[in-house]
Amino acid sequence: MQPLRVLTGITTSGTPHLGNYVGAIRPAVQASLAAGTESFYFLADYHALIKVGEPARVQRSTLEIAASWLAAGLDPERVTFYRQSDIPEIPELTWLLTCVTGKGLLNRAHAYKAAVDHNAAGGRDADDGVTAGLFMYPVLMGADILMFNAHKVPVGRDQIQHIEMARDMAASFNHLYGEHFVLPEAAIEESVATLPGLDGRKMSKSYDNTIALFAPREQLRKLIAGVLTDSRTPGQPKDTEGSALFQIYQAFASPTETAALRQAYADGIAWGDAKQLLFERIDREIAPMREAYQSLIDHPDRIEDILHAGAAKARKLSGPAMARLREAVGLRDLRTQAGAVVAKTAKSALPAFKQYRERDGRFYFKLVDARGRLLLQSAGFDSPKEAAQAIAQLRQQGSAALADANAGLQAAEGVSPVDIVAALQQLAEAPA
Ligand code: TRP
Repeated sequence: MQPLRVLTGITTSGTPHLGNYVGAIRPAVQASLAAGTESFYFLADYHALIKVGEPARVQRSTLEIAASWLAAGLDPERVTFYRQSDIPEIPELTWLLTCVTGKGLLNRAHAYKAAVDHNAAGGRDADDGVTAGLFMYPVLMGADILMFNAHKVPVGRDQIQHIEMARDMAASFNHLYGEHFVLPEAAIEESVATLPGLDGRKMSKSYDNTIALFAPREQLRKLIAGVLTDSRTPGQPKDTEGSALFQIYQAFASPTETAALRQAYADGIAWGDAKQLLFERIDREIAPMREAYQSLIDHPDRIEDILHAGAAKARKLSGPAMARLREAVGLRDLRTQAGAVVAKTAKSALPAFKQYRERDGRFYFKLVDARGRLLLQSAGFDSPKEAAQAIAQLRQQGSAALADANAGLQAAEGVSPVDIVAALQQLAEAPA
């Protein structure tokens, strides 16, 4: 089985806070330990340039985010952890994708549209203050994802549209140049809570209500003392519903601990005591990482080494992939013309599976013979993964899988079952 490839990027534009930890870092580190998955995590520093015009801040944020993920337990031996700008193939792929992406598609991107609407409301020119970088944001992100043929992309809800756009780009490219890209899917963690910030709204840099993940212990205590509560006095029962303090506690505590705090609320715990409990609970989880974090921040050379090793690992894939893509679009060595034709016939001497999506939104595949004649046609699947699984089954079990009614396979007109069995046989015997 091909491992499930999971990839996500973190824009290097700020200092990690507890919301990032609970919503992204902690679940990602957890997920990276799962068997059968291959994880890619990267620092999206090219994306940072779109929002941040301060070089020192981009640099500092890159350092802090890298140190945070490593301190939180991301194992760079186990995953591929790298910095976007260390991978020259990404901007290169961005251009290839730019050339297959409809401008209209980008016009519809939420962030760009919001900027345009904002300008319209203010009576300004539609694109006032909008950089081409903001407009192209989804294409750069598409390149991040497609470069490594990620299957799953864990993101927040606000990023779902970007993953859908990456799928569109992949489909357009595949249609024009052959099946080079996996169609990626967004992975939204339903069970992971969004953490409220100091003022009870979602913890976010844009609300200025964050608690820095690695604030020193005493500063963390002060910050937590600032979490919004109501005016109920000690002894008065308190509501857990809508209590930011309670929700933050819950994100760190075990169910038993949470139940105990719920009881304490009912019993009228003083806000000061509840804050002390919260502080101690968070500090218990964070303190060991805080030391690792500080040590990494003090030794940026170690982080550089880790990122360079990660980039080398990533480029083992992106280098050859980019060479194939250049070849596919016609950016070719002029001397190889004759050779290329020979190579093509050699390759096309095999039957092939082709995956595609129909206008009905469903996913299909077909089997064609060496000359491109249609042999077998699948019914529609709900996801590209299911289609891929059916293909894998056919590859592995050959004609035995043909009988599987679930696959809804249909022989093309005028094609005898013997031809299909022979094609599957040929594929099974071909070197991988
Ligand atoms: N746009 C993402 C965010 O703001 C960051 C990002 C950049 C990303 N490239 C990516 C996420 C590729 C997933 C995959 O959160």
